[in-house]
Amino acid sequence: MENRVEIAKQLLKKDSSFFLHLDPKANYLGRMLLDKHFSHDDFRNEIIWYYRRWNIAGKKLAANHDTIFWYVNGQKYHYNQLYIPKSEKSSAQGKAWKSVIVNGVRKSIQTDEETKGVPMPDMWEISMINPVSTERVGFSTQKPETLLKRIFDLTVNTNSLISDFFSGSGTTLSVAHKLKHKWIGSDIGEHYYSVLLPRMKKVLVGDKAGISDEVDFKGGGFFKYYELEQYEEVLAKAQYQWQGKDENQVEQYSFLQDQKLLEAIEIDYEKKNAKVVFEKLYPDVDMAETLSNLSGKHIKQIFEDKVVFEDGSEVIYDEMTFEKYPWIKPLIWWNSK
Ligand SMILES: C[S@@+](CC[C@H](N)C(=O)[O-])C[C@H]1O[C@@H](n2cnc3c(N)ncnc32)[C@H](O)[C@@H]1O
Repeated sequence: MENRVEIAKQLLKKDSSFFLHLDPKANYLGRMLLDKHFSHDDFRNEIIWYYRRWNIAGKKLAANHDTIFWYVNGQKYHYNQLYIPKSEKSSAQGKAWKSVIVNGVRKSIQTDEETKGVPMPDMWEISMINPVSTERVGFSTQKPETLLKRIFDLTVNTNSLISDFFSGSGTTLSVAHKLKHKWIGSDIGEHYYSVLLPRMKKVLVGDKAGISDEVDFKGGGFFKYYELEQYEEVLAKAQYQWQGKDENQVEQYSFLQDQKLLEAIEIDYEKKNAKVVFEKLYPDVDMAETLSNLSGKHIKQIFEDKVVFEDGSEVIYDEMTFEKYPWIKPLIWWNSK
């Protein structure tokens, strides 16, 4: 997890917050990790998420809470003061108190103003998702959308960019989408296809689960998803055949002898031209998307044979030579010499 925390910290905007939830067996390790990467002053709260559930007697106490650590990136972080209702026993129901100084002594007096309630404490009682609720997506550690909404209400500005590196069933992403934020999620598990993706597709068409009604979410928006090739997979595909002809072994091994590289290139010796044919490497490659990612240009229009970018430039797939488009070189391993 440490490398994720490091990257998250680097990506985090100055006015932003970072939350970490781990189960009771590991949360103390997570806290140590965060203390290593965030400054001491950036720790805000250890939030206790308390929930009731059907407790069964055993030789230890029933587990009825989880811990969430809240850190910020610098002291100018975004914060919305939230309130909870005053307790029913409070004598000052409905009226706000304010602090005044009378004859040099500070006193609290009751005003005629309606109270907003009590400032939000660090213990939150939020129910687990009901076993028969439509919010359930069949993922054991799924969190309720109301929990994530509380976190966003507290710390997120409108139209923010939210990221969850361990998306699980996608609760963070679903809530971010419904609250009209931009979001990026990632996960390593197979449930990405069986749970997260189907859930997010339902969100797009306006699912009625979770916080949808509360925030009047009716669907809409879009998202893109990618399957990233693991480094190990890249290595597994690489094939080397050492011919022992050249002095420079590194160059021979890394570039010239790599079958993967050779398979992707069609060389026209007469015209001294090398054309890249990515379909040979990845049969279902999305060329337009790949080229957009590489160039950082937004796509304007996609044709069968070419992609046109918003700046008016275009790439014709059949003419994709290194000569014409030198910037595509990083798409395959390339010796810069
Ligand atoms: C506890 S779950 C997250 C639950 C989520 N908050 C929810 O409400 O559904 C943790 C997730 O982290 C993912 N994960 C574990 N190691 C990972 C890694 N190295 N990279 C990306 N995801 C990882 C797991 O596949 C799992 O989905």
